[in-house]
Amino acid sequence: MTSIIQFADVHFGVEDREAMAVLAQTVESLKPDVTVICGDITQHGGTDEFKAARDWIKRLPCPKVLTPGNHDTPMYGLLHRFFDPFGRYKRYIAPLGDPHFTDENVSIVPLTTARGWQLKTDWSLGIVDMEDLDLAINQLNGAAGSTVKMISVHHPLIYPPVSPLQKETERGGEALKRLSEANIDVVLSGHVHAPFVLERQPDETEIMSIGAGTLSVRRRDRPASFNHIVIDQEMINVTEVFWQDGKFSLAKPQPKKIAELKSRRIP
Ligand SMILES: [Fe+2]
Repeated sequence: MTSIIQFADVHFGVEDREAMAVLAQTVESLKPDVTVICGDITQHGGTDEFKAARDWIKRLPCPKVLTPGNHDTPMYGLLHRFFDPFGRYKRYIAPLGDPHFTDENVSIVPLTTARGWQLKTDWSLGIVDMEDLDLAINQLNGAAGSTVKMISVHHPLIYPPVSPLQKETERGGEALKRLSEANIDVVLSGHVHAPFVLERQPDETEIMSIGAGTLSVRRRDRPASFNHIVIDQEMINVTEVFWQDGKFSLAKPQPKKIAELKSRRIP
């Protein structure tokens, strides 16, 4: 059995301090083997925010899989943003595309979809670089022995209907097709500040989609939350852990049979 904690959108600087104060003991009780953080670790990409995030990440009691979000580039200081958008992220958190995790049940590899700037007015949108995607796929398929293969991103590759935010990730649909052909099972994401579990992607691609909520005060009509995912040789079980009335509580688990997930995809 592998116990995975999935965080997203902690947004250090505007994190929910009450929830964060008791988070560690809740996480410990779930006995995680790996923690995945799906981006927007900071609010403005500022140095003090990154230092606080670094210290928090260091204290997490297991290996991590990390990816930046659009808020992890400097919001102030355009020169930084243009020429070294992930400089602070790399200095304080991790290299892009690293680290990843493998055991007998699951392999998880991160893919960066955030950009410092882009040729669009909305720089918060996601973009998939297909060469980066192929590298991630090769890492996942090179991880011999793992049953379930997951890619972790910040932006959903296609936004789910339940998302309060509806945008488009550039080449997201194309990326899903390639992931499906490569027999990848799950996309883990953040960005929309609302948790969700979908058996298949919104475009019907047969890849499960698991989104984590936010642990910040920037909420969209949902409590602060994160996901607990348990994988064994037969099942993927996703449980939202949400913050309400001064404590963390577990929502109803959402189980999925791994054989069923794979049988839908393999001809
Ligand atoms: Fe966010």
